[in-house]
Amino acid sequence: MKLVVIGGTGLIGSKLVNKLREHGHEAVAAAPNTGVNTLTGEGLAEVLKGASVVVDVSNSPNWEDAAVLNFFETSTRNLLSYGAAAGVRHHVALSVVGTDRLSESGYFRAKIVQEKLIQESSIPYTIVHATQFFEFLKGLADISMVGDKVHLPHVLFQPMAADDVATAVGRIAAGQPINGIVEIGGPEEFRVDELVQRRLASLKDPREIIADPNALYSGAKLSERTLVPDNNARLGETTFEAWLTQSAGAARAA
Ligand SMILES: NC(=O)c1ccc[n+]([C@@H]2O[C@H](COP(=O)([O-])OP(=O)(O)OC[C@H]3O[C@@H](n4cnc5c(N)ncnc54)[C@H](OP(=O)(O)O)[C@@H]3O)[C@@H](O)[C@H]2O)c1
Repeated sequence: MKLVVIGGTGLIGSKLVNKLREHGHEAVAAAPNTGVNTLTGEGLAEVLKGASVVVDVSNSPNWEDAAVLNFFETSTRNLLSYGAAAGVRHHVALSVVGTDRLSESGYFRAKIVQEKLIQESSIPYTIVHATQFFEFLKGLADISMVGDKVHLPHVLFQPMAADDVATAVGRIAAGQPINGIVEIGGPEEFRVDELVQRRLASLKDPREIIADPNALYSGAKLSERTLVPDNNARLGETTFEAWLTQSAGAARAA
C-alpha cells in the first residue's frame, strides 16, 4: 500500500515514514525539500499517483494568526482536491486534543478550519487528536515568555512521546477510515507549569516559571481539563521519566 506522508521530514513525519516502511508499506515523505509544497500545489499530483492514503503531519513554519490560517486552509484544500483526483481512499490528519475548545487561539482556529475542510470533503478520513509532545515542552516555555519569565497555568495535561504519536498515527493510517476523531495521549497526567519546570531543569535552562492562572496557551485561556483527552483515548506507553532518560542518552550519543 502506498502512503504519502505530508510533512514526512518533520518530527512526527520522519518517525512515521520509518515505522510504515518497517511494516512493509511504501511510505513516501513529502515536504518542500523533497519537491512537494502543499501551499503551491507543486509536486502534489506526481507524489499522489497510485497513493491509497495521505497522512498530513505537516505544520506551518509561521504561527502568526494570518499566516497559520493561510497555511492550513490552502494546503488542506490543495491536498483534498489533488487527493480526490488521485483516488485517495483515506485522508489522515494530525491535530490536537481540545482543538475545538481553543478557538481563542489563532493557531487553533486554523486547525479548526483544517478539520472542517476534511470533514466536509468526499474522501473518507480519520482525524487524530494528540496531546502535547514531550519534545514540545521547551517550545511551550518559549511561546509562554512574559519578559524574561515563563508564565504557564497550573492546569492538567497528558503529554506523550513523539515516538508514541507516530506509532499510533501509523496504525490508524494502515487501518480503515472512521470518518471521525480518535484521541491519543500519554500514560500520565501532569500540571503544565510543573512539567515544563522539570523539562527546563533537565536541560539546565535557568528560566523561572510563574504559575499564572491568566497565562495563555498559544493565545487561549485554559481551564482545568481543556488539554486532557477523554476516557477512551488510546494511551502511549512511554512515561515522562523514561523519555527523559532516552532523550538524554540520544543527546549524549549525538
Ligand atoms: N507540538 C505538539 O505538541 C503537537 C501536539 C499535537 C498535535 N500536533 C500537530 O502535529 C503536527 C506535526 O507537528 P511536528 O511538530 O511534527 O511538525 P514539524 O516537525 O514542524 O514538521 C513540519 C513538517 O511540515 C513540512 N512543511 C512545512 N511547510 C510545508 C509545505 N508548504 N508543504 C509541505 N510540507 C510542509 C515541513 O517540511 P520542511 O522541514 O521541509 O519545512 C516538515 O516536514 C502539526 O500539525 C501539529 O498541529 C502538535
